Amino acid sequence: MNILLIGYGKMGKMIDELAQQRGHHIVGRLTSKDKWNKETLLQLKPDVAIEFTHPEAAVNNILQCFEANVPVVVGTTGWYQHLDKITSLCIEKNQSLLYASNFSIGVNLFFKINDYVASLLKNYPEYNVSIIEAHHTQKKDAPSGTAISIAEQILNHYPFKNHWSINKENDDLYISVRRCGDEKGYHSVIYQSAIDEIQLSHHAFSRKGFALGAILAAEFLKDKKGVFQMKDVLNV
Ligand SMILES: NC(=O)c1ccc[n+]([C@@H]2O[C@H](COP(=O)([O-])OP(=O)(O)OC[C@H]3O[C@@H](n4cnc5c(N)ncnc54)[C@H](OP(=O)(O)O)[C@@H]3O)[C@@H](O)[C@H]2O)c1
Repeated sequence: MNILLIGYGKMGKMIDELAQQRGHHIVGRLTSKDKWNKETLLQLKPDVAIEFTHPEAAVNNILQCFEANVPVVVGTTGWYQHLDKITSLCIEKNQSLLYASNFSIGVNLFFKINDYVASLLKNYPEYNVSIIEAHHTQKKDAPSGTAISIAEQILNHYPFKNHWSINKENDDLYISVRRCGDEKGYHSVIYQSAIDEIQLSHHAFSRKGFALGAILAAEFLKDKKGVFQMKDVLNV
């Protein structure tokens, strides 16, 4: 498969290495310094683009892929306020998009477990629920897209909590954000009562898990039309 990498930072480089190991060919590696547009994509002729850039750049990059008829896998987080508009455009223009706040197989299994645990614990109001997320100090968005996905799953089961929040003072679902060193990604859901605590955690030790998931997503998306998520790739 011919893959175009949009974004060649920590994730782009890891995907480059693993994709070649899986026998794929990288047709281009774009960074913010490159001047590129629809014509560039038409010349490079990728079967699929994998986009890991910056929250401010993601929407325009997706639109360029739609214009050039290139299926796009999007790993960038922090742009989901535009998701409804992008989803409608993708369907209207008969294009292909797969986005995930987290491509790791472990985290996607964690999502499934999180949903189940929240459905049980909602019946026990003596347990207060909160979330911790920790990432490296260069991460641009906070809280992480993964923490927001986890929070939204929990909120679906807790009708008396309307929002997540990174401020401790209010009664919403609290997400504690920590930034430290080169932390690859730690997420924990904590249910705490006066007498005990239940914790559900996922800890990424390497970016390899995200990169491999993004390549599996690209292999899945190549010949499909529409909007997909990791649960479609993994069938969970
Ligand atoms: N979904 C997941 O599983 C997952 C996992 C890890 C990270 N992420 C997210 O993925 C994103 C990237 O993470 P990272 O760690 O790879 O970041 P990074 O190391 O900062 O790399 C970002 C890359 O994007 C490039 N870039 C920025 N704007 C661009 C544009 N308009 N066109 C083309 N390239 C552009 C940058 O180019 P310059 O070097 O020229 O600035 C750089 O090469 C972040 O939003 C992060 O939160 C998601």
